[in-house]
Amino acid sequence: MTSLIMIFGATGDLAKRKLFPSLYRLFERGRLSEQFAVVGVARRPLSNDEFQQSVKDSVQSALGKDERIDEFASHFYYHSHDVTNSSSYQTLKTMANELDEHYHLGGNRIFYLAMAPEFFGTIALHLKSDGLTDVKGFKRLVIEKPFGHDLASAKELNEQIRTAFSEDEVYRIDHYLGKEMVRNIEVIRFANAIFEPLWNNRYISNIQITSSETLGVEERGRYYETSGALRDMLQNHMMQMVALLAMEPPIKLTTDEIRAEKVRVFRAVRNVEGEDVHNYFVRGQYGEGTIDGKQVPAYRDEPMVDKESNTETFVAGKVMIDNFRWAGVPFYIRTGKRMTTKSTKIVVQFKDIPMNLYYQTEKELNPNLLVIHIQPEEGITLHLNAKKAGGHLDAQEVKLSFANSGVNAMNTPEGYEKLLYDCMRGDATNFTHWDEVAYSWNFVDKISAVWEKSKENFPNYESGSMGPKAADELLEKDGFFWWPVTDLDVDNCQGK
Ligand code: BG6
Repeated sequence: MTSLIMIFGATGDLAKRKLFPSLYRLFERGRLSEQFAVVGVARRPLSNDEFQQSVKDSVQSALGKDERIDEFASHFYYHSHDVTNSSSYQTLKTMANELDEHYHLGGNRIFYLAMAPEFFGTIALHLKSDGLTDVKGFKRLVIEKPFGHDLASAKELNEQIRTAFSEDEVYRIDHYLGKEMVRNIEVIRFANAIFEPLWNNRYISNIQITSSETLGVEERGRYYETSGALRDMLQNHMMQMVALLAMEPPIKLTTDEIRAEKVRVFRAVRNVEGEDVHNYFVRGQYGEGTIDGKQVPAYRDEPMVDKESNTETFVAGKVMIDNFRWAGVPFYIRTGKRMTTKSTKIVVQFKDIPMNLYYQTEKELNPNLLVIHIQPEEGITLHLNAKKAGGHLDAQEVKLSFANSGVNAMNTPEGYEKLLYDCMRGDATNFTHWDEVAYSWNFVDKISAVWEKSKENFPNYESGSMGPKAADELLEKDGFFWWPVTDLDVDNCQGK
């Protein structure tokens, strides 16, 4: 793919940890043609040589590889930039035009904003007014989260961006859409005759999505205090997984058709507001505790966090989708920091059979479950009941497992690598459309409006636990419980 990639925020963490290594992997696999150039843009002064060295260092530390690294790094250039100053954009423009000519890039440009979100709008406006978007080839804007802080700020940002780029030139990153098993949801659903007929409220009792982390807020206290788990994880990643699980089969696998079906899910999501929020959503904040045998501090004792912070580091909720397929089926979602384990899993629980003829050693028969393991393991498990060897009428649970990692872990590209490649090819399917963003902010804003008005009795869960008790009660009152994520691991395919 011939293009000039400008990375704004090139000295930042994301560029070093994800973008440079991903570009290198694309290069190594022959997915970047010889005709590409990268301009690193950031405030601090650096020479090209220094920048190239930092690119090499980050590739080596992320991948431990250095084959053809000098050749790769020679495509990288640096521009020390002031985001509010037109003359700085003029210099960048001259540099871009020269590189365009030198590498025969056909005027194709990708602008990647991997920096503090407060500058997103300003940069987009300058790119247009200073002529950087005035090109013969394609122009695309890749933009990291957070896309706004609420619906109003997201709209404002979108308007600024749209003065310089059309909707189909904007690639809003949700890195969960780069994950192999998130992309697999559609294939599992739409390429198997055995699931789709059951994928509705007649056969599914509830769906649970858990994304738990063991890490705390780390060095990001300043950002996190303004965000919390609701905005940081639920508005984007969790709601995207809900949409993929709930969408209707698209007519074709095109970007527009897939996005249209996802948007229809967002439109059908039941808004919860006012006092009702407490019936549907639970928030939590971690106190101190033990993780992997180590004592860890409470959220309120983390750097750059208010000692009386009311910010949630955990959220659990019930999402209802009021359409024909899903009426009455709760989608339970939960995510949080400093939980027992790092894991993202989807559990689809099927309804009980109408009459139970078998017993599982004095227990009720286990319901059938389809578990989609997003990370750290990648795979699917189907929980069935089968006859217990030697038993008479006893049934036992058996699991059919497919672990992606066993098959092609070494070749599974990193999420960012896939997203960058998609963007270069002009495939926006796995990026979020403005309509999805807007609906999802609208949903989340109603929850935060209620939460911001009242203080919760934080901290209300211990680090190393699976969240506050209220998150369990949320399901208990519907007659369900959270399937324990650690018991569902893909490798554990013995019957219990
Ligand atoms: C990011 C959030 O979007 O996702 C982080 O800002 C969170 O707070 C991260 O840690 C989780 O991503 P992953 O891929 O590790 O599940």
